[in-house]
Amino acid sequence: MQQVIVIGAGVIGLSCAWRAAAAGWPVTLVDPAPGSGASWVAGGMLAPVTEAWPGEERLLDLGVASLERWPGFAADLGPCGLRTEGTVVAATGSGDRAELDALAAHLAGLGRDVERLSGRELRRLEPAIGPDVRGGLCVPEDLAVDNRALLAALRSAAARAGVRSVEAAAAAVVDDGERVTGVRLADGTVLAAPVVVVAAGAHSGTLHPALDGLVRPVKGEILRLAHRPGAFPPPRRTVRALVDGRPVYAVPRDGGGLVIGATQTETGFDTTVTAGGVRDLLRDAERVLPGVAEYALVETAAGLRPGTPDNRPLIGALGPEGLLAATGHGRNGMLLAPLTADAVLGLLRGEPGPADADPRRFQEVSR
Ligand code: GLY
Repeated sequence: MQQVIVIGAGVIGLSCAWRAAAAGWPVTLVDPAPGSGASWVAGGMLAPVTEAWPGEERLLDLGVASLERWPGFAADLGPCGLRTEGTVVAATGSGDRAELDALAAHLAGLGRDVERLSGRELRRLEPAIGPDVRGGLCVPEDLAVDNRALLAALRSAAARAGVRSVEAAAAAVVDDGERVTGVRLADGTVLAAPVVVVAAGAHSGTLHPALDGLVRPVKGEILRLAHRPGAFPPPRRTVRALVDGRPVYAVPRDGGGLVIGATQTETGFDTTVTAGGVRDLLRDAERVLPGVAEYALVETAAGLRPGTPDNRPLIGALGPEGLLAATGHGRNGMLLAPLTADAVLGLLRGEPGPADADPRRFQEVSR
């Protein structure tokens, strides 16, 4: 079996490296800081239905297909913080309720019925939801995962499967014009391999000309809160909400933690947490879950989602022979990890990748 280098040890790179090594490939994983980046910051929603947008039906299909793989993926991995309590979506103003009604109608049109609930019914399910919430949806099949527990589990599984970790920055994928020959590190060292999987998130576009312009950084800020004795208990389900048109979510963690997210701005590779971002998230979270004002604010962080022109990921071969992309997962890296790892394993075996994620779709348009 051919040597495989995976660039990027976030959730996607780790999942691909683990699955490939477990299937017998000799795998080297290159990342200066494994398990950091956007994966470290993620809320961890596995929520294709509640994050669905009209016009993004193919992304919804990919997300649903990956969500179906999550229980098996988690069972193979061992304890990784998968939460199966489900998701509720809450609306505050009448415009927000109209938007959720439109989402429910859109999903019903796709054959995915979701249950509509009044504010009172939502509060019965999740007493942490406050009186400003007037209605919403219940989506039990949308799950969540503790991103940091997942990263720890993936790093252990990859090491057990024999993945060799090189803690260095990759500068470029190198090729001879026809085939990939390896990866050049920032210090000039070249690691030789005939197959390279680029899973470097928002940085992927800088690693080979074939990916240039296909991936851009989309910043997201999050807050980590912790329940304190005497404060109202956190929700058990993920709570996603629209507050006067602004989306906000709260994803529970074991032990009373809550991840509140996320802003969405395009400011290049900047990961500053802004005062305005923290203010907006706290204000909107408190409208939906009033008790969070009493929680401890334990962390603020920003990550860079890897955005693509059509919000669908890039999973497949492109450019010289041996170059594989596993990137561009946007808001859905955690969700799409099982599908991406299975797809990369298939590509290594010579099978076609998922058509809706084929990175050559942009080359075909520009020809
Ligand atoms: N999937 C949630 C986010 O990207 O903020």
